[in-house]
Amino acid sequence: MTPNIERLTEILERTRNEIRKVIIGQDDVVDKSLVVIFTRQHALIEGVPGVAKTLLVRTLAKVLGCDFRRIQFTPDLMPTDITGTSVFNLEQGDFALMRGPVFTSFLLADEINRAPAKTQSALLQAMQERAVTIDRETHALSPNFTVFATQNPIEYEGTYPLPEAQKDRFLLKIAMGSPDRDSELILAQRMLGSDAPERVLESGVVEAVISESDLDELRGTLEEIVVREEVLGYIVDVVQGTRKTDSILVGAGPRATQAFVLATRALAALSGRDFVTPDDVKALAAPILGHRLILRPEHEIEGVTVEEVIQRLLEEIAVPR
Ligand SMILES: Nc1ncnc2c1ncn2[C@@H]1O[C@H](COP(=O)(O)OP(=O)(O)OP(=O)(O)O)[C@@H](O)[C@H]1O
Ligand SMILES: [Mg+2]
Repeated sequence: MTPNIERLTEILERTRNEIRKVIIGQDDVVDKSLVVIFTRQHALIEGVPGVAKTLLVRTLAKVLGCDFRRIQFTPDLMPTDITGTSVFNLEQGDFALMRGPVFTSFLLADEINRAPAKTQSALLQAMQERAVTIDRETHALSPNFTVFATQNPIEYEGTYPLPEAQKDRFLLKIAMGSPDRDSELILAQRMLGSDAPERVLESGVVEAVISESDLDELRGTLEEIVVREEVLGYIVDVVQGTRKTDSILVGAGPRATQAFVLATRALAALSGRDFVTPDDVKALAAPILGHRLILRPEHEIEGVTVEEVIQRLLEEIAVPR
């Protein structure tokens, strides 16, 4: 292992340990969030209220030394509520820029499907371009600008589902489930004492492992992680497989392949390896591809899930040795 990769894996390990001081369990969700952050992408987080979505993103920001802001999406939210606007200042007789919440590093976009398409697309455009245009002037966003957009899986009624074509702007869809009994018991116990999760986060116990500028530099280290030609071919076969499967109406586009390659490197680093394995590819297939696929309606009616379709696809594709 190169010294750079050793340093990266050591930082990732410390990051996880700091997060664990606040977030109980949810290891898989934490790792996927780190994959998103270290590949400079964005995440969709799906989970019912109260599973610590907000607390997770706040904790990630604290531990990685990044700014944090939150937007609650509502039906009357306007695009300028996201990007910002320029306001005429009477005293100075001039326009002043009012920066919107996108001018941050980690942005929690809560209940993204509660705002109409025009407002959603203002955010999606900012994600894609890492810049916003306010009154014809373009402003760059933070190099660490990362959106965590939440969706409530049970409250789709009266909401605006994300356009299918826009979903592939998100690297992963992270499903955040309810805690298991052991985790929930720990949570219950901690509420009795002085170490309730929020209190721990706000106390001095949780330390920033790196600063914001380190994050950008560490991303470069991922380039040293080896992806063998065969493994690269495997990723392409899996993505192309989604376009050839009968039960899938619309498969994943090449943006999925690009995202896949980057994400497997981050996952390898999280496992303390300097090379990507076929298992990294398998582990990421459903979270990377799931939200980008449209199943044929007849399959959806039969209750086949997209995860099952991807699982079947993986079983059909030859795995490199
Ligand atoms: N795994 C967990 N670890 C630590 N705290 C947890 C966990 N699950 C739930 N909690 C606690 O549950 C409460 C709710 O967390 P939070 O507000 O982050 O949820 P949320 O998913 O953002 O909910 P909402 O969808 O309503 O915004 C917090 O007080 C948090 O401490
Ligand atoms: Mg919340």
